[in-house]
Amino acid sequence: MKTNHTYTGDCIDIMLNKIDINSIPLIFADPPYNLSGKILNLENNTTGGAYFKVNEEWDTFNYNDYLLFSRQWLNAAYRVLTLNGSLYVSCTQHNIGEILFIAKELGYKLNNVITWYKVNAMPNITKRTFTHSTEFVCWFVKGKNWIFNYDAIKQFNPHKTKSGDNKQMRDFLDFIELPIVQGKERLRGENGRALHPTQKPEKLLELIILASSNENNIVLDPFFGTGTTGVVAQRLNRQWIGIERNNDYINLSKKRLNAA
Ligand SMILES: C[S@@+](CC[C@H](N)C(=O)[O-])C[C@H]1O[C@@H](n2cnc3c(N)ncnc32)[C@H](O)[C@@H]1O
Repeated sequence: MKTNHTYTGDCIDIMLNKIDINSIPLIFADPPYNLSGKILNLENNTTGGAYFKVNEEWDTFNYNDYLLFSRQWLNAAYRVLTLNGSLYVSCTQHNIGEILFIAKELGYKLNNVITWYKVNAMPNITKRTFTHSTEFVCWFVKGKNWIFNYDAIKQFNPHKTKSGDNKQMRDFLDFIELPIVQGKERLRGENGRALHPTQKPEKLLELIILASSNENNIVLDPFFGTGTTGVVAQRLNRQWIGIERNNDYINLSKKRLNAA
């Protein structure tokens, strides 16, 4: 098994056949949410695609296939996690029910559902529901002795003591406010459009990697996309493994990792 390396191919196959059993302390997975298929684009938006509804071949399943796919990758991830390993899964209201149910069935324990409040969420175009402004990150563990670096993540608490020190976590809940990726962090093509529809904020990965891994640990991302997990892992002195099916995204992540 190679580290600081992106495997090309299907993550289920690679986690079953190329990654050592019980070897990975931390997995961050940002899987397809099965949102695609219904086009609802905002004409004339200037955000480089941030407000375009995700509509990708890799995100389109019929419901039973989605359940099977989720079960298969969650099972393969369980195989490669160390006995005290952590799995963080990015979700929305569209797939959180399925992910929670299947993961519990496979033997994972749920530690937290972290709510990410997107301060610049997509506008409420239809005006038929409350505005969708949150995503979730489910933190699962395989055994009992998981890593949780409480002191390292106190810095994420926006509230400080009178002397400016980091406060206890009482003020820092399973809740984080972050914009969706924009500005310099967003990877764009020459036409100004985002090069990947679901690039995740580096700050979110910082929180997860600092909380649930130690230096030199391996962090695996089975849905690597633009390589956000690799970039942050590298910066925080962790090893990383990416898995991605799409060669364009792999090339993009290689450039990004080299530049970082
Ligand atoms: C939601 S995106 C991840 C985006 C990533 N978190 C980022 O910050 O760029 C999911 C990615 O998984 C890839 N993918 C989908 N199914 C896959 C599979 N079975 N094996 C490996 N990669 C897959 C897609 O090509 C897509 O780039």
